[in-house]
Amino acid sequence: MQWSQEEEERAREKATENSLVRVQPEDQDKYEREASKYWNEFYNTHKNNFFKDRNWLFLEFPEILPKGRKNQINKEEKSSYPVKLNATNSCTNVGFPGMFEEGKDYCQNNLVDGLTSVEGHSYNKNQAEPVTDNKHVKNCEQEPVKQESFPGSGATYRILEVGCGAGNSAFPILKVICNTPGAFLYCCDFASGAVELVKSHLSYNSAWCSAFVHDVCDDSLPYPFPDEIQDVILLVFVLSAIHPDRMQGVVSRLAKLLKPGGMLLFRDYGRYDTSQLRFKKGRCLSENFYVRGDGTRVYFFTEDEVHNMFTLAGLVEVQNLVDRRLQVNRKKKVKMQRVWIQGKFQKPFQPPQHSR
Ligand SMILES: C[S@@+](CC[C@H](N)C(=O)[O-])C[C@H]1O[C@@H](n2cnc3c(N)ncnc32)[C@H](O)[C@@H]1O
Repeated sequence: MQWSQEEEERAREKATENSLVRVQPEDQDKYEREASKYWNEFYNTHKNNFFKDRNWLFLEFPEILPKGRKNQINKEEKSSYPVKLNATNSCTNVGFPGMFEEGKDYCQNNLVDGLTSVEGHSYNKNQAEPVTDNKHVKNCEQEPVKQESFPGSGATYRILEVGCGAGNSAFPILKVICNTPGAFLYCCDFASGAVELVKSHLSYNSAWCSAFVHDVCDDSLPYPFPDEIQDVILLVFVLSAIHPDRMQGVVSRLAKLLKPGGMLLFRDYGRYDTSQLRFKKGRCLSENFYVRGDGTRVYFFTEDEVHNMFTLAGLVEVQNLVDRRLQVNRKKKVKMQRVWIQGKFQKPFQPPQHSR
């Protein structure tokens, strides 16, 4: 949906108003220093019950898969896209990016609850998601990739998911790549509790996946693989959790991990998303950066910021769009204007030539 100028102006005013009172500097330092602790507590509390599986990933990001596999998935996966059973037990396709972004309400007040309607579709949150099961593990035909000097060293196609949390993107990917010869998934998070959740999941198999604890803000930490070997890097609702001063460093470091021609795929919160406007005064850390009640932080991006950050890292923009959607909670008669930013950035085959 498009916003009118008036709506944009109203949103700007709300954000200006809730940013008037800032978090004290000593508390700001604590949230930065102890960021992984707050996320660990988050996963201790919610385990893997908070976010929903990102089953829209392959529709929005077909680049995740090697070329030959993409077309196949389009046919296979579209039919199994998030479905709901209606009253007569027939299925309706209801999935689209954003719909399950925040499995439970991730905003300040518990506005989203129970039966929700999104642009005319209603779905029951408890029903809508296919349950991750062990079936596809049994169906996997791929021979384990030979382990040599580092996990996934024998692979021919590599994906790195940064800030994987409890695996809501990783498991939909694993479902597919376990049947894709030569493909390997790395996923990391600085919350060790989250990585444990991923590793202890029934679908986890070290033959085609390696999950590890890693703080992407810590430049001194090596990755458990060499630079320039990743075909795809996925950043889904992760960069927003990082201090804005550190984002550029993180993106530039990640760009080094990509192969020439590799893709960095990004989706995150956009400027004036409902969740930004709902923050109360006193939760703002700096412009468009807030801390939630549980100590986790969130930034709200514009397209320009996203463009600048990724191109400064030497990547070329392939897509950069704002995705605005109206979500309606019929029970509470509340409308929410959701805003997400989605980008695709490619590492050039040749480094850009600088003219004198
Ligand atoms: C909003 S969650 C998204 C999780 C997952 N990408 C998904 O889509 O469900 C943000 C994740 O980023 C992780 N994270 C935040 N800062 C990080 C950092 N500096 N290094 C690694 N992971 C980080 C958090 O632990 C958390 O799991």
